[in-house]
Amino acid sequence: MTDLREWLASVEALGQLQRIAAPVDPDEELGAINYLVASREGAPALLFENPRGHPGCRVLSNSLGSSLDRLAVTYGLEPGLRPLELIAAARERVGRRQAPVEVDAAAAPVNATVRRGEDVDLTTLPAPKFWPLDGGRYIGTGTVVITRHPETGALNLGTYRQMLHGPREVGLYVSPGKDGLQHLQAAWRRGEPLPVAAVYGLHPLLMVVGSQSFGANTNEYDVAGGIQGAPVEVVRGEVTGLPIPAAAEIVVEGFVRPGDEHGEGPLGEFTGYYGRPAGAAPLIRVEALHLRAQPILTAAMAAEYPVCEQALFIALSRAARLWDDFDQLGVPGIRGVYAHPAAASGFGLVVVSLEQRYAGHAAQALAFAAQSPATAYYTKWIVAVDEDVDPSDLNQVLWAMCVRCHPMQDVEVLRQTWSTPLDPSQNDEALRPYGAKVLVNACRDQRPPGHTAPRALIGERTYRQVVERWDELGLAGPPPRPPALEPDAASPGRAAAPA
Ligand SMILES: Cc1cc2nc3c(=O)[nH]c(=O)nc-3n(C[C@H](O)[C@H](O)[C@H](O)COP(=O)(O)O)c2cc1C
Repeated sequence: MTDLREWLASVEALGQLQRIAAPVDPDEELGAINYLVASREGAPALLFENPRGHPGCRVLSNSLGSSLDRLAVTYGLEPGLRPLELIAAARERVGRRQAPVEVDAAAAPVNATVRRGEDVDLTTLPAPKFWPLDGGRYIGTGTVVITRHPETGALNLGTYRQMLHGPREVGLYVSPGKDGLQHLQAAWRRGEPLPVAAVYGLHPLLMVVGSQSFGANTNEYDVAGGIQGAPVEVVRGEVTGLPIPAAAEIVVEGFVRPGDEHGEGPLGEFTGYYGRPAGAAPLIRVEALHLRAQPILTAAMAAEYPVCEQALFIALSRAARLWDDFDQLGVPGIRGVYAHPAAASGFGLVVVSLEQRYAGHAAQALAFAAQSPATAYYTKWIVAVDEDVDPSDLNQVLWAMCVRCHPMQDVEVLRQTWSTPLDPSQNDEALRPYGAKVLVNACRDQRPPGHTAPRALIGERTYRQVVERWDELGLAGPPPRPPALEPDAASPGRAAAPA
């Protein structure tokens, strides 16, 4: 589908869309409302139907936010999944590929209105200024930027922020090494402008795939098509020839000319701090603007969890990818992987649950999780827990860290590791890209002479009995599932809780 309006109808049916009809100023007020509402876990998506000073336009923010259900809907899954179930289901879908299809441009919703040249005025769009110290209004946050490598022809969709500079001028900030910047540098080396299409109103699935790195030769349209089980419908942009989503709300086409840069930033970031200070960034000179009727600008606020738009989906996708890496390398016994969204958008903490099968198994899992491409960036805390601990339940993880970890022997520190200038924990900016990682082995000590005492668990038979009597006993909600049970006397070993 990849149509934002169908997605909105689905989440509204779940009771997870809040429409705000009263006028709201995109200058700080919208950001403040987003911040306050989204501070509660699972808060609804917000559709601002009357952004002050921008008649005929709407703004959607907190589209995914901290809602597992809205993320499930975005992946085409049923709502109601628990974190590890969602990770496992999304993981399977992310591995599929389906190429986009080109549809009739004249009939495409994105071409309902097309403005060209001097008729383009992006200041009419309700681009928010989220934070008081942001460098300006950001038109591209819940966005993808579409580019093609001028030599290899590889197409990329990347979520890179864009600051509004004027009616037809947009700044584009892409971090070093990212695909969009590689395309730009290749074009500039040839002395050519880079054609760019930027989408400012989109189905969240495109933002989800645009904010993950799938390798230079993977077209994110193929990934999105694979996830939704149907091709993304595209039309050829009339100025750039780039494929743009046929059902997108707002798209611009333009060019980034060699050496054409402008001051950009700062912007409040996923760390809860402003990111890089103002600096030069490439400028998109816009030549065409495509709009649906009553277009919806998708805004993604960055902040600490649970406000941060990207925290949950980045955390879950990192976990899914690390789990895949373990499988591909044949590390056995992995029961679950979780990156907690509150840990700086899932970047800061990874928990691996495993069934220890040999001496050194937990240490191996820790070292690999610390340096796998999926999780090496930024991560500061890597924790290994046993199979009876749900890695997505912080209560259980903290319990394991406090009863199964002896810091004298179970903690290692890796130094000079991969991080980012966005990490505010060191005052010296030059040092910030050099991170450090703590590896915490919170698994049972398996060395002789053996455990001092068994863990206290409720019995399997009794658990089943109580579950059967749950309603009769007048107990509220569904019965919880403990992570492990004491098996019936006849069966040896400890039992995992029934699913
Ligand atoms: C809301 C949001 C905003 C982002 N802003 C930027 C940005 O301004 N610059 C950047 O390089 N990456 C940004 N990212 C991260 C990139 O999307 C991510 O690194 C992705 O892998 C880039 O795509 P690529 O691997 O195809 O280059 C952002 C991600 C999200 C979810």
